Amino acid sequence: MRIFLIGYMGSGKSTVGKKLSDQLGYNFVDTDQRFEELYKISIPDFFAKYGEELFRKMERNILLELKDSEDIVISTGGGTSCYSDNMEHMKSSGLTIFLSMSVDNLATRLTFARKKRPLVTDLKGRKLVEYIENQLSNRLLYYCNADYTIDINDKKLETITLSILQYLKQLR
Ligand code: S3P
Repeated sequence: MRIFLIGYMGSGKSTVGKKLSDQLGYNFVDTDQRFEELYKISIPDFFAKYGEELFRKMERNILLELKDSEDIVISTGGGTSCYSDNMEHMKSSGLTIFLSMSVDNLATRLTFARKKRPLVTDLKGRKLVEYIENQLSNRLLYYCNADYTIDINDKKLETITLSILQYLKQLR
């Protein structure tokens, strides 16, 4: 089985993905990390040098590259599911799980983790909140198509992974 974790920047997709893959005995890939390893450049540097449009194309290549991997948890970037037909691709090749978090919680988390996220690096306070509000409302159109949505506000990592495991169990 192939499991894709989707959701906004800073919602904890990588942390949840790692834990979930451990518990399932699956492989784990974080598409942002894979991008940086494969192309030997950090995402902020890539955005600065080549721009977002090319990033989206290459991010899609990473996703397609993983299409034959079995028993894997894939944590995607916050924008991955919102470009091209990436969402359709993920839904047809595996299960999509949306980690849903409030704007306020995302803003709090991103305030401390902006530096490696070029889209929000220069934003803070009210500006950051407004950016998230606006972008999240657009992106929810994509995120909401996930096979399973879990509200992760104020939930512990263990609780989140348990909910996902329970969801997977009842599918069998
Ligand atoms: C992006 C999210 C980032 C990374 C890039 C663009 C986005 O991933 O792919 O900076 O468009 O939301 P995370 O969701 O892991 O921060």
